[in-house]
Amino acid sequence: MSNAETTNPTSPPATEPVEDWTTDFDLLDADYITDPLPVWEDLRSGCPMARTDRRGIRTWMPTRFDDVRALAGLVPDLSSKDPLVITLPPEFQAIDPLDANEDGLNAAPISADPPEQTWTRKMILPAFAPKAIEAHRGFTENLCHELIDRFVDDGSCDAAVQYAQQIPPRVIAHLLGFDPGMADQFVEWVRGILEIGFYDPAARVKNRQEFNVFLAAEVKDRWANPRDDLISQLLRMDVPEMEGRELRVVVGICNLLVIAGIDTTWSSIGSALFHFGSTPADRRRLADDRSLLPTAVEEMLRYYSPVTMARVAQTDVEYGDVVIREGEKVLMNFPGANHDPEAFEDPDQIQIDRTRNRHLAFGSGIHRCAGSNLARLEMEVALGVWFDRIPEFELADPAHITWAGGQVRGPRQLPMHW
Ligand code: HEM
Repeated sequence: MSNAETTNPTSPPATEPVEDWTTDFDLLDADYITDPLPVWEDLRSGCPMARTDRRGIRTWMPTRFDDVRALAGLVPDLSSKDPLVITLPPEFQAIDPLDANEDGLNAAPISADPPEQTWTRKMILPAFAPKAIEAHRGFTENLCHELIDRFVDDGSCDAAVQYAQQIPPRVIAHLLGFDPGMADQFVEWVRGILEIGFYDPAARVKNRQEFNVFLAAEVKDRWANPRDDLISQLLRMDVPEMEGRELRVVVGICNLLVIAGIDTTWSSIGSALFHFGSTPADRRRLADDRSLLPTAVEEMLRYYSPVTMARVAQTDVEYGDVVIREGEKVLMNFPGANHDPEAFEDPDQIQIDRTRNRHLAFGSGIHRCAGSNLARLEMEVALGVWFDRIPEFELADPAHITWAGGQVRGPRQLPMHW
């Protein structure tokens, strides 16, 4: 395991202050990133479909649970082709070295509509079934112990940088058969694409390019020299639609698995540690009664839902009293939906024993997260091992906590002590 730890020094540049959230919302507004709940609450009661014209493309943001779910179902009128871009204009997208953009295969199934979405999703589901995922529990537990060994005697750490951020890239590298030493590089690429790339288009292009070149070389290598790993299995699958374009399809899938699997899960682990480090009563309760871990994980997913996706209208779509014009975007505001009082009792309260909790943190409809079993396992193991080793802890320096926002929200600096 490399000792290099990725630091998190960046924060988005200041943006024009928002005066009217109903017509000019900004996902990168600093106060919104730190605490979006008051904005959603206001919008839900006054203007449940907010809009913005910032960054070139008119973008809509629903805040009600039922609306988010209904809009996620409007496929393909609201399309997922190239959803990884939320607010960046198209000229800033990176060129794909395998030229896989035009049919949505650059990160399928998430970047595609049916039929491509259907068969690419089918290819990956077996590897993420509960039984297949269970096989990674031991690896993940050992990894969490090794990470904690490094800082437990110091009495403090940055729980985002030294712990949460270190887990998913190593689990994904293990799953896909990449050199485990690449984990830090994955973190850099993913942050360069999803986080820093959100406000620095040049960084986005550079990181995406480097990452795609790396993936193409790995996939070509497995094509020539099959091994016992997921990339080799995907290349060998008997999928008629893939024939003749195996390399493009599998590079796209790997692209997605690394991007979807890293930022999301480390954000969730970090948010959970933030909660328990700032709420002594819940920390003590979970430390004393570990049977609460599964409901606590679900509640962390609901409350801190890290992922907001987007769709692009392929035609004019009438929804309620708004018309989403062809070419405009709609945010899949899964986090906002999870705080709708019509769907959850006391949604802005964290209840780690909440039992009725059909949240949308993993999305809704045909694109619902294919990696949710792995995400839950990683969260359960990461929290379980942390509580075994460090049952008493608290935030060390709340003023120095930073959050990333935009497409994936979570803490990026989280000083903790014990
Ligand atoms: C807590 C962690 C995670 C959260 C909150 C999360 C959330 C989501 C959400 C909201 C979507 C739906 C996107 C949309 O509607 O456009 C999604 C899709 C997806 N996620 Fe996750 N995810 C997590 C972890 C993972 C992991 C660990 C993997 C696998 C390595 C993964 C793989 C995928 C894939 C493949 C899709 C696309 C499914 C499709 O388009 O059919 N995710 N995820």
